[in-house]
Amino acid sequence: MRRAIFSIFSVCLCSLFAQRNLIPTDSPAVEAGRQIYMGACSGCHGATGEGSQGPSLLSGRASRLPDRTLLNSIQNGLPGTSMPNFPMGSEKINQVAAFVRSLTAPAITTQPAGDVERGKRYFFGAGKCSTCHMILGQGGHPGPDLSNIGSERTSGQILESIMKPSARIAEGYRGVVAALKSGPTIQGVAKNHNNYSVQILDKDGRLHLLNREEIAKLELMDASLMPSTSDAAEARHLVAFLARQSTRMKEGALSK
Ligand code: HEC
Ligand code: HEC
Repeated sequence: MRRAIFSIFSVCLCSLFAQRNLIPTDSPAVEAGRQIYMGACSGCHGATGEGSQGPSLLSGRASRLPDRTLLNSIQNGLPGTSMPNFPMGSEKINQVAAFVRSLTAPAITTQPAGDVERGKRYFFGAGKCSTCHMILGQGGHPGPDLSNIGSERTSGQILESIMKPSARIAEGYRGVVAALKSGPTIQGVAKNHNNYSVQILDKDGRLHLLNREEIAKLELMDASLMPSTSDAAEARHLVAFLARQSTRMKEGALSK
């Protein structure tokens, strides 16, 4: 009896998972989808899904559409609205849906192009990323800990952080320099600041709590402390490596 109930339960679970996996996540499908999207959809939904004539595809609403609804909306359009139907073969519909999903999917659920091992080597080596960032306790300060970055950001966001660090500065990581009345200068990121005090995390991981009266000059930077990477190939390998960093898959997170 128990067993029968259990197997009915697992059949239900299986079909649930099958439902969720109608849309491919591999990078060739996403890339093919990007090409279709640029021609057929970007005019109304924007080149990065930000929306113009049509709604944003980055909103919570669009990212929560079940697979089947998303596929149907693309294939059949949304009657009574300006969203047209796209009578393409199901392979192409799947590809463009894969691209739409990639716009909001956490990087860990995607397979970005790029070599994970090369990304790892660059991160801890020539790229000097680990001088400012920690992954599972290895690395330095004052950049954000990247142990879970694959679950927190999309691959597109990770790529943007690497190539254009100043485009969006992570909360609590604005660069700051405080010249103290007593002489020394403290540099790092401003964890917190108001009219009375500032907390600065320096590159050695020390948190300085300073009152405004102690400070001769306080400079908050508009540009990120992080240098940009202009080498597109290295950036792709870095994205592949960082996309794998998720604390939900603790074992092997560093090596795979
Ligand atoms: C002529 C403009 C236009 C084009 C081209 C277009 N869309 Fe749309 N799309 C819309 C509009 C308008 C809506 C909102 C309809 C509504 O009011 O619900 C929409 C809705 C959607 C939705 C549902 C969003 C939500 O939040 O429910 C998805 C997904 C979508 N479009 C994907 C696509 C894809 C993929 C393509 C290309 C294959 C595409 N659209 C091409 C105008 C367009
Ligand atoms: C000088 C220190 C420094 C170096 C070197 C550095 N970073 Fe950063 N990084 C930061 C700081 C500070 C931030 C937060 C401010 C911001 O968002 O720009 C950041 C942000 C990031 C983010 C975004 C984190 C988030 O939560 O969205 C990523 C991803 C990242 N860095 C990756 C890298 C990679 C890859 C390298 C090596 C090529 C690198 N960093 C080198 C300091 C650094």
